[in-house]
Parts: sequence; C-alpha cells; structure tokens
Amino acid sequence: MKVRIFDTTLRDGEQTPGVALTPDQKLVIAQKLDDLGVDAIEAGFPIISEGEMVAIRHITGAGLKAEICGLARTEKKDIDAAVAVGLKYIHTFIATSDIHLKYKLKLSREQALEKAVEAVQYAKSLGLQVEFSAEDATRTDREFLKKVFKAVTEAGADRLDIPDTVGYSTPQYIAEITRDTIDATHLPVSVHCHNDFGLAVANALSAIQAGAKCAHVTINGIGERAGNASLEELVMGLQCLQWDKDRKFETNINTKLLYETSRFISKIVGVQVQPNKAIVGENAFGHESGIHTHGVLSNPLTYEPISPELVGRTRWFQVGKHAGAHGVAAMLEEYGIQPSKEQTHEILEKIKKLGDLGKHVTDVELLGIAGEVMQQQGLKRLVHLVGFSVSTGIGNMPYAFVKLNIEGKDFISTDYGVGPVDASINAIQKITGEISKVRVKDYKLDSISGGSEALCEVTIKVEDAYGNQASAKSVGEDIVITSVQAVIDGINRIMLKKILKQKNLGQ
Ligand code: KIV
Ligand code: ZN
Repeated sequence: MKVRIFDTTLRDGEQTPGVALTPDQKLVIAQKLDDLGVDAIEAGFPIISEGEMVAIRHITGAGLKAEICGLARTEKKDIDAAVAVGLKYIHTFIATSDIHLKYKLKLSREQALEKAVEAVQYAKSLGLQVEFSAEDATRTDREFLKKVFKAVTEAGADRLDIPDTVGYSTPQYIAEITRDTIDATHLPVSVHCHNDFGLAVANALSAIQAGAKCAHVTINGIGERAGNASLEELVMGLQCLQWDKDRKFETNINTKLLYETSRFISKIVGVQVQPNKAIVGENAFGHESGIHTHGVLSNPLTYEPISPELVGRTRWFQVGKHAGAHGVAAMLEEYGIQPSKEQTHEILEKIKKLGDLGKHVTDVELLGIAGEVMQQQGLKRLVHLVGFSVSTGIGNMPYAFVKLNIEGKDFISTDYGVGPVDASINAIQKITGEISKVRVKDYKLDSISGGSEALCEVTIKVEDAYGNQASAKSVGEDIVITSVQAVIDGINRIMLKKILKQKNLGQ
C-alpha cells in the first residue's frame, strides 16, 4: 500500500520555539522537499503574517510536483487568505476536546461542530480541496469525535485528519479511533502525531496499520514542544520493518536523499539533530565497540538493520576504550596504513589507556599512535598550503588569498567569507572543488601557553557531502593560519580516504 506523505516542516515545523523562516528560506525548503518526493507540502498558515503570505505565494507559483496546502482556522478570513495566496487545498481545523472548548475557544460542542461544518461548506463553495482536522482529537470524547467527522464529511470534506495534538495517545488508542473514523465516513484519513511521550512515529505507524492513508510529518521531527513524527523515521519504518505478511508499505520518498535533506533543513532552521537520532543522527551508523565493529566488518547486517547507503549515508568507526583489533585495523586501512598483528595490539593498548583516562580518541590521535608504534612518517599529503594571506577588519568583508600545491602543481585563488577562516576555506574550495567540498563540523581552539604570544592548538572535524569525516589538529602561533592548516589536513585526510575507497572498490 502506498502511504501519502504530507510534510508540515514549513508549518508545524516552523512552530518550533525559536524558529522563524524568511520567504526565500521557505521556498528553498519547499523545493528540497519536492525533490525528496513528498506528496503534499503544508507551506504555512497564510493569515499569520504578510511574509507568510509572500512565502506561500512563491511556493504555490513554483511549479512543484507536490500538492501545496495551507492551514486555516474554521474562519472565513483564514480561508479567504488561503485563496488570496493561490492555494487550492486547505487544512482547516477546530479543537474538539472539552479541555480546548472550555478553556481556549469558550464554545460548546454544538457551536464547534457548527463552525466546522460552515467552514467546510464555505471552502468547498470556493472550489477548494479540504482536509479537516479535529484538533486534540485523541482527548476528544470518542462519540463526539465521530459525530464531528461525520458532519464535516456530509458538508463535503475531502480528507480527515486525526491530530494527536499533545502526543497523548497510545498506539492502541489511535488505531481504534482511526478505525472509528474510517467506518463512520469512508474518507481517506491522515494522522498528525506529536512527540510529547516519544511515541509520535509509533502512533503514526499504528494508525497507518489500522487503515490511515497518510501521515503528517516533519523533517528531523521538528515542531512544537517535543516535535512531530519525523519523516525519515516514519518512511524507513514503513519501508523496512516487518509488517503483516501480505501487506507492504511504500512511499514516494527517494530515501537516498534523506540525510542530505535532513542536514540542509537543520542548517537553515538552526535546529541541530541529536546525535543518537534514528536514521539521520550523527551516530546512527557509527560503531565503536569491538564486538560490534567485528560483526559489522564481517557482515554489516549483524549490527545495522538497514544499509546506510539506503538513506544516503556511510558507516563509520570510532576507536575508544570499547574498541577491538578489527576496528582499529579497519580504521587505519582507510588511510592506507596496515600494521602487523602485534602492532595493532600495541596501538589498541594505547587507545584503551587513553579511553580509561576519559579521553575521546579521534582519528588524529589514532594516526599519531599508529605512527609512533610503527615508527612511520605522517600520512601521504595530496594538498599543500604554500601561500596564504587574509585581510579582515571592521567595515569590510574578510578576504583571503590562497596558493596550494596539489601533487606538484600550483594553484591560486581568492574569496570572501563571514570571517577570515571562512574566507580561506572558501578560497581553498574554489581550487579543490567538489572533491573536497567539506564543512567544518567541530572547531576547538585551545591555548597551549599563556600570554599574547601563546601557541594555539586548533582541532577540527570536517565532513563532506557523502558523510565521510576526518579530524585534524594543528599547532601554531597564528590562529587563522593554524586553523587553515588544520582544514587543509582534514581535506587531505578526506581525499586520501576517498581515493583509497575508490581503489578498493575497483579491485
Ligand atoms: O497538532 C495539531 O493539532 C495541529 C493542528 C493545527 C492540526 O497542528
Ligand atoms: Zn501539530
């Protein structure tokens, strides 16, 4: 069965505390969601502001494949605002629980029902497609909920939505009221689940199993309070989990774009993804413990329920006090380093000692330890920084000049940036191009000695568009040059890893 994905990142997602998007940002997000393959985009709530109306107008006029929807209370002025921005599809809602009716709307059940019916009739008279939500449905009297859904169906609603507004439902209960709604109306039913008890995705899946045809979701699960059901978890759950024998769930989502979309949207909205988040979190395909690494190296299925490539990611290993010889050898192999069995054990001993001291062992330390144990020179370097200057100050944008030597050939470039380090990275990437398109994920600056002539130590972690990561550390007197040197080291490591990976694939 094909499940319809109604994305509300631009409406409920934007209701995340502290998030506000400009019309241009909303448009690029809508384009990204369309590329991902969502079936419907809730572009916003037209009545709330001028900027919101501009954004929705841009989105409705962008020629996207997805259906574009806008939110409206059961008020004529909200529905008129939706029409004014070119919407042909609205999501109209009114609360139906006694708590909301008494304390928020100050309406009786009958008055709310009447408003719902009038709004649906009005929207239909304007030729709109109408999805009706009974806000706080899961805390609404069960018989009254059925009555409301029946009445709006008779008034012409095209779709019904069951919002679990405060994430209060259990998977069993939402399945029951989904069945009630389908039996009473025979309309396509959506579910809209919030994550206050961490059950948003479980509740949405349960409703779908009970017959709902559509889920309202957001990228990275962003939204009011604890957020909404996350698109990436729901989609992968539908596609990969074991459901009834003869029932398969599918969506139109291009799952290979999930990670990239998650990162893109996280950056624009300014909400970081927690590292242990399923599917798109930093650690979702990372392995440290020796037992797990060993298992994954002999067959990834041992500790990975799905392959990372399916969601546009790559697996990675981390060394630390739980590491084992197989993992250490595999990580070094990524840089073309092949220690003997004895050397591997010696490296492992040193890593475990650092781990016992509570130290986080990055690949910089691992390479340092391996070099020490194997009495080897540093890694092969493909890119060398041979010339560099940067101008910065108040009132002019930082500007960098960079000269690189790549495998014996010199290249020069210049660029601007938000700061001197950013300007330098932009100039470097003008030369190295796509192959080293990295972003600096972590940046740490320490002072090694005191005073204004102190030595500084810069530790960075860089990541490329495919999720390949590398850490690098540099020590020097000048913060900007030291930072740039660390970035060049990081780029070298990512390039080296990539070249070795390609070589291995070609073998
Ligand atoms: O969570 C909710 O109830 C909503 C409504 C607007 C449907 O977002
Ligand atoms: Zn909501």
